[in-house]
Amino acid sequence: MERGRQAAAAGDCAVCHTAPGGVVNAGGLALETPFGVIYSTNLTPDEETGIGRWSYAAFARAMRHGISRDGRHLYPAFPYTAFAKIDEADMQALYAYLMAQPAVRNVVPQTRLAFPYAIRPIMAGWNALFHDPSPFVPDPARSAAWNRGAYLVEGLGHCGACHTPRNALG
Ligand code: HEC
Ligand code: HEC
Repeated sequence: MERGRQAAAAGDCAVCHTAPGGVVNAGGLALETPFGVIYSTNLTPDEETGIGRWSYAAFARAMRHGISRDGRHLYPAFPYTAFAKIDEADMQALYAYLMAQPAVRNVVPQTRLAFPYAIRPIMAGWNALFHDPSPFVPDPARSAAWNRGAYLVEGLGHCGACHTPRNALG
């Protein structure tokens, strides 16, 4: 649980998954992107409106491949491009921690982007071009501290999500 709490903090889940004045992780924050407004989802274990019915496998697939439980492609405003580097132990801790939080019923606004971005399956093409779902591989030529830092920066910290310039396709 403690490891999951720290992983959630390092990944800033609550920063994006909490609406202004809303309950922590219950979703609904509007993220302004050049492609339109994308709303964060309810990350609490509510069965109807959150991730209460999600298996660990569904959670890990969303985190590493940007695919929701029902098979919908997610937009990379959700930094699965970085979270793919989270190792199995941290991923399991995150899931255990999130599933142990209070379930909050909250229906978030639907994301409706303009054509063609409204067609979520096109994200499969985006992923093929820009998403590398391979796990983090430590560099044996570097120190343990360097590798720990790289793991945090490239994975949970998703620093590059904001600190890397984007092309026209985001
Ligand atoms: C930069 C903002 C941001 C951060 C940080 C973030 N998320 Fe999200 N997340 C989103 C958005 C936006 C969506 C919805 C994407 C969409 O609708 O395509 C989302 C969707 C998800 C989904 C899919 C939910 C569903 O119903 O399909 C999961 C699971 C998830 N996030 C988990 C996490 C976890 C765990 C963390 C922290 C480790 C985290 N997120 C951090 C923005 C973020
Ligand atoms: C959600 C977007 C976002 C993420 C994620 C993010 N940053 Fe930043 N960061 C910013 C912005 C925006 C600024 C500039 C803030 C300002 O000018 O006041 C900034 C500033 C900084 C600065 C200060 C640099 C300076 O020249 O003053 C450092 C250091 C930094 N970030 C490190 C990191 C690290 C390390 C990570 C990953 C663990 C990270 N950031 C993740 C958005 C982000």
